[in-house]
Amino acid sequence: MFRLVNRATVIASVVSFLGHCPVTAADQSSSTDPIVVDGKTFALNGDHVSYRFHVDNSTGDLLSDHFGGSVTGPIPTEITGAVNGWVGRPGRIRREFPDQGRGDFRIPAIRIRQTEGYTVSDLQYRSHETKRGKPTLPGLPSTFGDEDDVSTLVIHLYDDYSDVAAALSYSIFPKQDAIVRSASIKNKGKSNITVESLASLSVDFPYEDLDMISLRGDWAREAHRERRKVEYGIQSFGSLTGYASHLHNPFVSIVNPETTESSGEAWGFSLIYSGSFSVEVEKGSQGFTRTMLGLNPSQLSWNLGPGENLTSPECVAVYSNNGIGGMSRSLHRLYRNHLIKSKFATADRPALLNSWEGLGSTFNESTIYELARESADLGIKMFVLDDGWFGDKYPRTSDTAGLGDWVPNPRRFPEGLAHAVNSITDLKAANTSTNLRFGIWFEPEMVNPNSSLYHEHPDWALHAGSYPRTQTRNQLVLNVALPEVQEFIIEAVSNILNSADITYVKWDNNRGIHEMPSPSTDHQYMLGLYRVFDNLTTTFPDVLWEGCASGGGRFDPGVLQYFPQIWASDDTDAIERITIQLGTSLAYPPSAMGAHLSAVPNQQTGRTVPVDFRGHVAMMGGSFGLELDPANTPEADRAALPGLIKLAEKVNPIILKGDMYRLSLPEDSDWPAVLFISEDSSEAVLFYFQLNPRVDQAIPWVRMQGLDPTAMYSVDDNATYSGATLMNLGLQFPFDTEYGSKVVFLEKQ
Ligand code: DGJ
Repeated sequence: MFRLVNRATVIASVVSFLGHCPVTAADQSSSTDPIVVDGKTFALNGDHVSYRFHVDNSTGDLLSDHFGGSVTGPIPTEITGAVNGWVGRPGRIRREFPDQGRGDFRIPAIRIRQTEGYTVSDLQYRSHETKRGKPTLPGLPSTFGDEDDVSTLVIHLYDDYSDVAAALSYSIFPKQDAIVRSASIKNKGKSNITVESLASLSVDFPYEDLDMISLRGDWAREAHRERRKVEYGIQSFGSLTGYASHLHNPFVSIVNPETTESSGEAWGFSLIYSGSFSVEVEKGSQGFTRTMLGLNPSQLSWNLGPGENLTSPECVAVYSNNGIGGMSRSLHRLYRNHLIKSKFATADRPALLNSWEGLGSTFNESTIYELARESADLGIKMFVLDDGWFGDKYPRTSDTAGLGDWVPNPRRFPEGLAHAVNSITDLKAANTSTNLRFGIWFEPEMVNPNSSLYHEHPDWALHAGSYPRTQTRNQLVLNVALPEVQEFIIEAVSNILNSADITYVKWDNNRGIHEMPSPSTDHQYMLGLYRVFDNLTTTFPDVLWEGCASGGGRFDPGVLQYFPQIWASDDTDAIERITIQLGTSLAYPPSAMGAHLSAVPNQQTGRTVPVDFRGHVAMMGGSFGLELDPANTPEADRAALPGLIKLAEKVNPIILKGDMYRLSLPEDSDWPAVLFISEDSSEAVLFYFQLNPRVDQAIPWVRMQGLDPTAMYSVDDNATYSGATLMNLGLQFPFDTEYGSKVVFLEKQ
């Protein structure tokens, strides 16, 4: 049935192929331009990365040539084996935008159900355009930069059979070695079609062994790093919760099996989206590895009428030859400078005290004033009032009522919220002339059935006909896809922010989406939510916004566009937090992490860890805070807090703007260590921990990374060593007990 190709025939065809068509894009590599187009071949060039593809002249398909370290000069054309067997040619090549139905049996990046019901597509190259800079995406968060930061190439494709057009937008940020891609589909026909799947980015890696790294978890157990071999077949994960979720993060890294934190090749893919997503990694029969990120196809079914279009979220792809750490640092730099819009992206964050673990939702004006006064005495600069301040007819005194009724509880604030805020913002942080700032908690996307809002607008809660409305934490989700719900949220939050001197908002979200009127509501909800975020953060640019979703349930790049920081986890146990924060840092800058020192025994794990250790872990996050009641804190711990707050303020600028090196991981070592190097490389701060007691055993060395080998560094003003010595030999620190920690300053001489 199939033609058997003997070895001699294969070799002959290879030679003649090479002889006739040795290169693609002969001129591309000699140029340092970020985008070089040579006929129908395309190159995106970063400082250390090349991304190349071309149009297959015989089919009009886009074929991938390379994504990895810089390639220069002509590149060889990939040799494709003879088509023999069931898999057609489209299944034997590396494709930029794989479709379904023409012989590629791997997962498609695009699946469109045509009016007639079939799902074949044939999107062929039509034209392209290039531009300096980068357009924003309609209604979606997106990376940004000026003409010197980023350049964009748009490839236009067209399916003559269905009159569907696609535009693939590639932007290159050369300094960050980052490529950003999104895809847009337009129905140019005369009848409705349905977009059933649309990936933002699909990359086919060459035939080689690869590993994949992802972040998995659950509530209070976010961002646990998972590394596994890429096997033949599909390895996929994603979210069907309506949000990015604690379960999996919209991020994946592909690495060579030998890649470590500090060496080897690493590719990082990060989807700029906060809703249900999908990550699929497929090693196909030919050995190529397809990596694809995008909207979750199970929650899409997007109807496109004539003239309408659907744009995918953006997916960022970075490449590093300096291991997993190098990949993370590229993402950190990109996100700090070209994703987070807030003016606080890299501005020093006030040390804060959040009332949640200290007071829960049981308080009144005088107890929160006392808590704020105690906080100010310790040197805290911002007091954040968490859950429980609202609800009139249905007061929020527990989680059974009040969500949706965003008016201050008149029994808790008899003289109004502004009165309580004023008395707190009149307080001065200890030994300073700095007034305490006031922050407040909201959960605007939710409603308790016990609320005036629900009684007035039961249809605003997401529901599917007469199916029961499943409650989680006694609450339902508002349908933020509805413009009237968006307006309600904007008005409710604005009213409170305009009513008092509030300069910080913690935006919480405490359940997943269950019943929905249709799968596409998932993405419509996200578009509505982004509209709300955009409106409020633009109207209140001086407010420091913090994202939260039962901890890190929505720690994703979409949220970061609007909120410069996100509460990383409801687990405040410092030991657990090292794993969570270092896991989160795989994709997200430490500047974006909210991290608090809480009371012991810890509320989630029951563990008791020394106060210094708790403080040191928390100050590795960009937003340091306390989550306790100082009045109920043992005196020895309480006495340590002012010093820890000062130390957190001292390291904060380096955490916010510097480069992070994960020197050792808690999953590999009893001595996790992280080095942060300041933006100008003049100073560095080492965080070093011991997790378990060691009796009668030699003391390990911790070796730095990223220093200047030829420079001299003073170590805590005690001794001076060269960067080479610090990186190749290292330093030793003895610990007397379990849970030991050190913060060490290195200063370039
Ligand atoms: C979940 C958050 O993660 C907590 O920090 C706290 O704000 C509670 N919600 C309040 O309900």
